[in-house]
Amino acid sequence: MDLFAGCGGLTLGVAQAAHKRDVALDVRLAVDFEAAPAKVFKANFPKANVQEGAVESYFDGDLGAPLTARETEIVSTVGEVGLLIGGPPCQGHSNLNNHTRRTDPKNRLYLRMARAAEVLLPRAVVIENVLAVVNDKQQVVSRAIAHLKKLGYDVATSRIDLLKLGVAQTRKRHILLAIRENARDFGVSAADLLQIEDHGIAPHDLRWAIGDLLHVQPKSFFDEAAVPSADNQRRMNYLFENDEYNLPNEERPECHQGNHNYTSMYGRLWWDRPSQTITSGFATMGRGRFVHPAVPRCLTAHEAARIQGFPDFFKFVDERAKPRYELTRTEVQVIIGNAVPPPLTEALTSNLFDAEVLQTKDETSRLLEDDFAAPAIGLAC
Ligand SMILES: C[S@@+](CC[C@H](N)C(=O)[O-])C[C@H]1O[C@@H](n2cnc3c(N)ncnc32)[C@H](O)[C@@H]1O
Repeated sequence: MDLFAGCGGLTLGVAQAAHKRDVALDVRLAVDFEAAPAKVFKANFPKANVQEGAVESYFDGDLGAPLTARETEIVSTVGEVGLLIGGPPCQGHSNLNNHTRRTDPKNRLYLRMARAAEVLLPRAVVIENVLAVVNDKQQVVSRAIAHLKKLGYDVATSRIDLLKLGVAQTRKRHILLAIRENARDFGVSAADLLQIEDHGIAPHDLRWAIGDLLHVQPKSFFDEAAVPSADNQRRMNYLFENDEYNLPNEERPECHQGNHNYTSMYGRLWWDRPSQTITSGFATMGRGRFVHPAVPRCLTAHEAARIQGFPDFFKFVDERAKPRYELTRTEVQVIIGNAVPPPLTEALTSNLFDAEVLQTKDETSRLLEDDFAAPAIGLAC
């Protein structure tokens, strides 16, 4: 089950780990209240039960309270759940958000994950968020941990560096892993299973992630950079004409001049380094270091998806998909920027399989190709 599912970055990682073990993936429920990411999820996982709605309307009971009518209904329709994953919205915690951070009521959505665990009692729970979630004034992380422990889970948290998982991007995430005590056949702890960074993967640079896309012929806006304003095009040309990677103050808009900590804004990426964190602003130079290393333009959606660790078979834009789904450029940018790099849950789920917290043998297993739209090969990007 994937809550706040977006396009399914977390689920894709689970699917890839399952695929490597010939285990079927059965997405009993994926919930997001935005139509656009739900469409992308459904197109890539055609058999998944994807629903458009607010998570708090599915899991609407208080922590510790008896199940509500809605929750009882979900238990009976969804059945047993092995793995519950979710990345509640993080704008409230993000250090990039100066207005409402740390008191944003959205932060309470984090606790809906703990409630969903209480309702479903899955074997394992993964909650993904920004690092700053631990600074939340409502202490959602410690409240979730306390509640999960009360339910009989072994719980651990970690700050995971995605660069160490082969993602060509500087991005760190806060991960909570909870393992149901009686699912731990071999006595491994949640803390052991969260050790996913030290597998000796060499860090990847931008050339590795997107070098081959430089001369790709666009079939749609997916491979076309957004058209910049005349001022921003001039700024990008300046970077290339002067062989610069940081835009000098005098070339920036007046409001960005003077003392600032925003060196990376209006900046150009390096081929031989990882990208900065991809956000939904990747198509605009004023929203981060998003100018392509070799051409005076910002990243395309395809390049951003690659940097997020998505393989090419995952379709953000696919006019041949059934049912057809058509999204705007802005919707696709937001979906990609919001997504969690799949290598995160791929590594974590592999550990859960290895420790048999998740079952690898199931009489009802079908080949994964039935369950999601990936080809049998080409899992790497
Ligand atoms: C950070 S994104 C999730 C990304 C996703 N886990 C992935 O890996 O691709 C958060 C998502 O939560 C959705 N969302 C925010 N508040 C919600 C709510 N109350 N109920 C359902 N979905 C919500 C947003 O539309 C957004 O797609």
